[in-house]
Amino acid sequence: MKNASQYLWWHTGIIYQIYPRSYQDSNADGIGDLRGIIERLDYLQWLGVNVIWLSPVYPSPMADFGYDISDYTGIHPLFGTMADFDELLDVIHLRGMKLILDFVPNHTSDKHPWFVESRSSRDNLKRDWYIWKDPGDDGSVPNNWLSVFGGSAWEWDEQTRQYYYHGFLKEQPDLNWRNPEVQDAMLEVMRFWLEKGVDGFRVDVLWHLIKDQQYPDNPPNPDYQAHMPTYDQLLPVYSTDQPEVHDIISRMRSLLDSYDDRLMIGEIYLPIQKLMLYYGVDNKGAHLPFNFQLIDLPWIAQKIARAVDEYEAALPPGGWPNWVLGNHDRPRIATRVGIEQARIAAMLLLTLRGTPTIYYGDELGMRDVPIPFEEIQDPQGLNMPDKNLSRDPARTPMQWDCSANGGFSSVRPWLRVDEAFERENVQVEREDRHSMLSLYKRLIELRQKEQSLITGAYEPVECNEQTIAYIRRESGHSAFFVLLNLSNGSACFNNENRRINGFVNIATSPHLEGRMISGKINLNGNEGIIVRLAQ
Ligand code: NOJ
Repeated sequence: MKNASQYLWWHTGIIYQIYPRSYQDSNADGIGDLRGIIERLDYLQWLGVNVIWLSPVYPSPMADFGYDISDYTGIHPLFGTMADFDELLDVIHLRGMKLILDFVPNHTSDKHPWFVESRSSRDNLKRDWYIWKDPGDDGSVPNNWLSVFGGSAWEWDEQTRQYYYHGFLKEQPDLNWRNPEVQDAMLEVMRFWLEKGVDGFRVDVLWHLIKDQQYPDNPPNPDYQAHMPTYDQLLPVYSTDQPEVHDIISRMRSLLDSYDDRLMIGEIYLPIQKLMLYYGVDNKGAHLPFNFQLIDLPWIAQKIARAVDEYEAALPPGGWPNWVLGNHDRPRIATRVGIEQARIAAMLLLTLRGTPTIYYGDELGMRDVPIPFEEIQDPQGLNMPDKNLSRDPARTPMQWDCSANGGFSSVRPWLRVDEAFERENVQVEREDRHSMLSLYKRLIELRQKEQSLITGAYEPVECNEQTIAYIRRESGHSAFFVLLNLSNGSACFNNENRRINGFVNIATSPHLEGRMISGKINLNGNEGIIVRLAQ
């Protein structure tokens, strides 16, 4: 157990993900930008979050909306200038907040000068910076590996008569991380931003960086079903999660550790046991391998409670937990579980042990916005049109107020704004004590000031088909009892022998707040309570 002074900002902070295209447009081009974010820092500070993660803002042809980078040390003019970035970083720091950048090391854009060189000839010095393979005798692809965005992961280059590998779009060729020059060049990129003072990175698809050197075929996935992305036809056992990736991560980590207090978050979609390895030996890997269980699991009390227990049990000694409810790749929480349960989800996210990540707009209860086919922007949606995989619905403009386009932009935004924006926006919800935004604000406030919720132990109390109950406790501080009804039917918590008593501090239903809890607890459907336990 650490004592309070041993906790760092990322143990105790709350992360808020901004998708910059959709946060605030300041120059009337329909696309959000850095100055827009600067304008909205008052809001973020009011909300109480203190770590901001920006999805990519680098120069990019935008084939994958910034995850195809053509210059790792620049700022895309759509988002502003390097001077705007420096100002953003400064003002964030002046407010006592932190800034995390998205770092995308697995692949570049095909327009990146490195790839332009690499594809120019077989004997170019950068040829081996990417993954080039000969065709089979019949001209076929080197193996059966699939792209996450559909189709083969190999693209034929007519000029040099070899295939190159791309785990995502063909416009996103994978770098060859086995090449030490690539490693050095990418570490230099990290150093560039660390020198500027950014507080850390969220590292894109960290588990994809290294591939099996023999490039064997991936085996078929016995659980594949037609509605799934075509990528899931195979198990990516040779194309991802290779043991050598941990050597790369430790190099990145050593670089970060040569600065004070910088953070590495890894984007890793893997089962818990494999995920844990990304903390590294002696916790010298990623500080926070993203934990996506609340995104991946069905919203069923017993499944969630079991997952929390398993996750807690699997953490390496000294490994710090974290929880994520949503991001720019997945349907929004309010759409997945419904608006009522989204309140329960907020309570869960902000009372579990570990650093929470909030996806912009979820604090308003923003939903996936249906995007007509002609307006779809996301390549994942366009490449597999029959599978409903577009990520646009979860990336729509932030809803600020009742003015045109929800206050996001004075012109038509790059993606349409939710029709509900006049009812659901920051301005309206700030005034309504019972809104989702007010709930988030109060939960954040409570979490930021109560030591038990920040660093206290997680003690499971009970779980059944409907409810999850747990206590967060730090010695010398008030403990909190959390009871959440994940169903829409009424539920009863049998408090006999448990002697849980105290006052309800925050509840989904206002009439429960302030109430004294001692005996049996009855909850209506979709209700949750956080109780400050009597000492
Ligand atoms: C994961 C990112 O979150 C996603 O948006 C992107 O499309 C892929 N990585 C490829 O970079």
